[in-house]
Amino acid sequence: MRYDLHCHILPGIDDGAGDLEDSVAMAWQADADGVGVIAATPHIRSDHDVVLDELPARVAELNAAILSAGLAIKIVTGGEVAAPDCDRLSDDELHAVTLGGGGRWILLEPGPGPMDDALEATVDALHARDVRCVIAHPERHAGADAADRLAALVARGALVQVTAGYLPGGDAAPTMLDWAARGLVHVVSSDAHSARFGRTATVSEGLAALAGLPELAPHMDWIAHEGPRAILAGEDVTPPF
Ligand SMILES: [Fe+2]
Repeated sequence: MRYDLHCHILPGIDDGAGDLEDSVAMAWQADADGVGVIAATPHIRSDHDVVLDELPARVAELNAAILSAGLAIKIVTGGEVAAPDCDRLSDDELHAVTLGGGGRWILLEPGPGPMDDALEATVDALHARDVRCVIAHPERHAGADAADRLAALVARGALVQVTAGYLPGGDAAPTMLDWAARGLVHVVSSDAHSARFGRTATVSEGLAALAGLPELAPHMDWIAHEGPRAILAGEDVTPPF
């Protein structure tokens, strides 16, 4: 069973799934790809009005719809928290958007533009609040010093998530694979927004691209299974590479 820790599958809450039918269609995509658990990660960002108290009920409603569609996929809570917005969130609010409700790990979206000192400061500030970070899609925030930036974030205890659909090919793939070969990629997720457009809610092609790297081939079970399981459980996570 695979995991998808970054997916905008909750309906009508951000720029993701448009309605419940779209959400269930995304779940069908994921199921066909061997995904068994999806973290619902709506944007926690000033341009989206997500009510955090509603998240558990919204996830439960989607799980009921998925079950009645005959799928075995489980949706768990989460959020894609914009780094510039972290300061305004209380400890309870941060807890509400930890991946899997595990109370430990949040998916942290870098602010617009290349990764910079402010992102490292945010990771440090969250760490001081006992929250650990999975950095979302750094390939969309890559300046010339991106590999050094990622190494600094990983040295601070952060993990790094890349977009599955960009790994098999495309402009960003060589850079992402280079990061992965250096041990700077830990999580592969879909960042899917809809079954009607854009990336599919799948991870297997991205995992296969990583498995082609000799540095990571021995660690694919950790990347596909053990790492995401531990993140959702709120455990300490020490990558074996
Ligand atoms: Fe996202």
